[in-house]
Amino acid sequence: MGKQSGLVSCLALLLAVTPAGVSAERCAVITFDHEWDGNYAANFTSQSEIPFKGLDALFTFDHPVKSVSNWGGSAEVIDDIHVRMYNDNLFVETGAYCTFGFQVSYSGDTRPEVIAIDMNGQDACDGTLSWTTTEPYINPCEETGMAPYDYPQALCMSFLFYEAQRSGVLPPDQRVKPWRWDSALNDGVDVGHDLTGGYYDAGDHVKFGFPMAVTTTVLAWGLIDFPMGYEQAGQTEYARAAVKWATDYFLKAHTAEYELYGQVGKGSDDHAFWGRPEDMYMKRPAYKINRENPGTELACETAAALAAASIVFEGIDDEYSAKLREVAKELYAFGDEHRLEYHLSITDAEAFYRSWSGYGDELLWGALWLYRATGDEAYLTKAQEAWDEFSLGEKAEQFSWDDKKPGAYALGSMVDSTNTKYAAALKEFLRHVREDSKYTPDGLVFLDVWGANRHAANVAFLALWASKYGDPADEAINLLWAVSQINYILGDTGHSFVVGFGVNPPQRPHHRSSSCPIPPDSCFLNSWGQTQPGPNPHILYGALVGGPAEDGTYEDDREDYVHNEVACDYNAAYTGALAAIIERNN
Ligand SMILES: *[C@@H]1O[C@H](CO)[C@@H](O)[C@H](O)[C@H]1NC(C)=O
Repeated sequence: MGKQSGLVSCLALLLAVTPAGVSAERCAVITFDHEWDGNYAANFTSQSEIPFKGLDALFTFDHPVKSVSNWGGSAEVIDDIHVRMYNDNLFVETGAYCTFGFQVSYSGDTRPEVIAIDMNGQDACDGTLSWTTTEPYINPCEETGMAPYDYPQALCMSFLFYEAQRSGVLPPDQRVKPWRWDSALNDGVDVGHDLTGGYYDAGDHVKFGFPMAVTTTVLAWGLIDFPMGYEQAGQTEYARAAVKWATDYFLKAHTAEYELYGQVGKGSDDHAFWGRPEDMYMKRPAYKINRENPGTELACETAAALAAASIVFEGIDDEYSAKLREVAKELYAFGDEHRLEYHLSITDAEAFYRSWSGYGDELLWGALWLYRATGDEAYLTKAQEAWDEFSLGEKAEQFSWDDKKPGAYALGSMVDSTNTKYAAALKEFLRHVREDSKYTPDGLVFLDVWGANRHAANVAFLALWASKYGDPADEAINLLWAVSQINYILGDTGHSFVVGFGVNPPQRPHHRSSSCPIPPDSCFLNSWGQTQPGPNPHILYGALVGGPAEDGTYEDDREDYVHNEVACDYNAAYTGALAAIIERNN
């Protein structure tokens, strides 16, 4: 079949173009332009209701051709009446015309007309083509047989989820590809920078820098402290790729010493659009912090992410690791020297990811990560100063994208072990969550209405961390508690809360791109993608959904973003917790 683009072929809904004074047999999508001795030029034209990428079409002529050239790509003559037209780079946006010109050379008096066009096995000649993908989406995460749950398979799937959240130009080794293509390629154009890449936040397509950064810090942390879990599951490379997808973006977003882009896309405009990221048409403004409009939580969390990632890439790619470390230092200094709550500078983030805990916890957490990455004692002093100034030893209730205190207790107990306040605070936090919290009747610790599973997984990660690195007296209880929470998520209530995993998993996550059908079925008509009662057409393998209500009830309802959304931050500590359990089981 020659070159395989592996992409959806050109053409959706064709506008019939009335041929002027020619045989009725010529394909309606072809318009004759002009001819000259033994040659003619013509155009292929159709309007697309949806965006698509990659042309791969077989033209059939009614008389022999000598040669054909495709001005917008390439053409391969197969035999004298069949010519394959290619253009891997073709990208057509919503409502745009897919058009390309071509030239046909022939002998004799009869002009060879295009009488059939086949695109991936479908007839594109008369305008009734429906869309198709060339490859089905096959879940590459095989069962391993680990009991009671297949933690390695869930770990593998978690990285598939992160691939599904990728923005920008997708790499050749992208595994989630039949329904995910390049998208948001103009991010940053409004401010004169390339801000493509990074992750879409959740079920939406805003790139919120603050939760993206904590996602990255925590993904890196799992890799650093439970490396054997990833190794045993064969996931180390995917885990590094998941971290790097974010850190590459943060490096782009750090456009000057005191400048960091912390959001692309406007929350309200983005959330008003239920469609695929490939199909977005709204403006996606870029928002930054700088000296005049600083943002301490954002700068210090991004510094933490880069510092943690620099440890991940030590000995793997030392140049990259050093670059991450340098930028981490700059961003920490920026956040520390110019203190302001970041939502006051990036005001659009306030309604979505305001840091209610303030920036004291990020100053502490960022300093500890920088100390771990650099060994520079000055950061331990910074950590102590933040601890004192913001009374960070006082009771924490969650470990979350907002509040990093409990994570900092753990990290501090390792990197500054003579300073016993960290270990004591970690021990007390875990005791407090285990013993004083609300639970659903069937056993999930219930720390928040929003994404209760994620909060449980976050603390489970810390409990697993403590069972490996913390007070040996609490090892068993932390382990038991953490595994009970992860097992709840994976199926203890009779169904899994992870899309595509285990028994009776969620099929309708609040997630735009997986809910949209393959064109030409429209995601937009009658809000099909959002409200249709069936499963999402694409399985968002590995995504952890929000979770039950306090009474333990849960409904697999796409419109319930409180209980059934997915998010990059939801999967982060959960991923590390799976690795920790795998490590423990081996
Ligand atoms: C064919 O396409 C070319 C280039 O876009 C355009 O200049 C020309 O007018 C088109 N011809 C017809 C007949 O549409």
